[in-house]
Amino acid sequence: MKNGEQGVTITWPSSATTTTTTATTTTTSSSIQSAHESGHSSFYTIPHLLRLSSLAAQPIEQTPLIHTPIEWPTRTDLLASPTLRIPYADFLHSRAAEHAFLAQLTGYGLVVLTGVPTQDGTDEGCELRQAMRRLGELRSTFYGKVWDVRALRREETRNIAYTDVDLGFHQDLCYFENPPRFQALHCLRNRVHGGSSYFTDSFAALRHMLTSHPDEYAVLKGDEGGDADVPFVYDNDGYWYYRTHRTVEEAPRAWSRSRSRSQSPNTSSNDAATDADAANDDPIQFHAVNYSPPFQAPFPPTQSPAKRDKLFRALATFERLLAREEGIYEFTLREGEMVVFDNRRVLHARRAFWDKTEAEEGKGDEAGQGQGERVRNGEPTRWLKGCYMDGDVVWNKMRVMNRLVRTGQVEPLPEWKEVLKRRGLLG
Ligand SMILES: [Fe+2]
Repeated sequence: MKNGEQGVTITWPSSATTTTTTATTTTTSSSIQSAHESGHSSFYTIPHLLRLSSLAAQPIEQTPLIHTPIEWPTRTDLLASPTLRIPYADFLHSRAAEHAFLAQLTGYGLVVLTGVPTQDGTDEGCELRQAMRRLGELRSTFYGKVWDVRALRREETRNIAYTDVDLGFHQDLCYFENPPRFQALHCLRNRVHGGSSYFTDSFAALRHMLTSHPDEYAVLKGDEGGDADVPFVYDNDGYWYYRTHRTVEEAPRAWSRSRSRSQSPNTSSNDAATDADAANDDPIQFHAVNYSPPFQAPFPPTQSPAKRDKLFRALATFERLLAREEGIYEFTLREGEMVVFDNRRVLHARRAFWDKTEAEEGKGDEAGQGQGERVRNGEPTRWLKGCYMDGDVVWNKMRVMNRLVRTGQVEPLPEWKEVLKRRGLLG
C-alpha cells in the first residue's frame, strides 16, 4: 500500500458490546493502520475492492470454477480430453505437466500416469507414495496409507477386491461417513488374462437422468425424505463399518451461479456441462455420488414400502444409465501405469481375470511385457498398489497451481489454455 492511495477506512468496535462500525472514504496514512483506543481500523484500497467485487477475478470465487467437473457422457468425450495420459517423467519435472495432471483429475475425474517405475513394492519406498506425496498428504484408513491388491496363487482372500471375479461399478469406502475423494492405483504386475479396468462418469449419467427421469432423480437426491438413504457396510476381518448415504449430493447452488456468470460466450462441446449452462442460468452441479452395490447393506425395515419401491426403481434407472456402453472407458492397466480418479464421481470396476499358463508367461503379453519371467506359486500374478487422498488435499494443490498459472509463474500446456480461458481462470 502506498501513502496517498484512495480507499475506504473501516473503524471496527473494540468489543462485542460496542456495535457501531464506521466506514469513511479516505486516503491511507500511517495513523490509520495503528490501533485506535476505540477499536481498530482497516484500510481497503479501491483496486482491492474492485477485485473483490469482480466475480471473474476473485481468487475466492475461482474455487468452485477450479474443480467444476467437465462431464463426459461418452468415452469419446474422455478420450478427447486434453491430457488423459501423462508421462510420469513430465509429471515429476514439469510444473505445466503437474498443472495438467491436476486440471485433468479435477475436471474429468480421471488421469493416467505412464512409465511409473515398478521396482520398489514396499509401502515406504514405492513410487505410488512418492508420486502422490507431491500433491499432499495421503488419507490413512484401516488399509493403511498405501495398500496392495494382489492376486496370489494358492492364497486365501479376505475382501472381494482381492478375488479374481468380475467386480461391477462401485466406489471405495462408501461405508465411511466421509469416503475418500481420490484414489490412485499403480500397476506393479499384470501377468494374467483379463482383469481390465473400466470407468464411467456418474455425473454424466445423473445429467441424463435429470432430463429423462427427473422424478427419479429427485428420489435419489432425497426429496422424498429419509427413505432415500442407502446403507453400506464392511463387516469383515474384525472390522464393522456402517454408514447410510443419499445417492446424490449436489454442489451448493452458489457455485453454479458464479460459474455461469463467468462463462465466456466461446464455449466448447468438450465441456459437457456448458450445454446445460446455455439453457439454464443456474444449472445443477453435482458434488458427489454414493453408489457401491458390492458394499450395500440390507435395507432396514421401513414404514413406507411405497417409498422404498420408488427408491429401488430410481436406483435401477441410475444403474441402467451407468451401464450405457458408450459411457464406459475400459482399458487394461499395464505394468508401470498409474490411474488416479475421483472416487466420489467416477465409478470403477474390473473384469474377471485368470492366470496364464507357464508357456504363456514365457511369451509375455502382446507388447512383450513380462517376457521370460515366470510367476512362482505364492507370488502375485496381478499386483496393484493403491492409496487414497482427500479432496481438500488435491483441490488445495489445484488452487495453488492455478494461482501460479494466473500470475504467469507457470505456463500451462496449450491443451489447457482454452479451457482455462473459457472458465475465466486465465486472462
Ligand atoms: Fe474398488
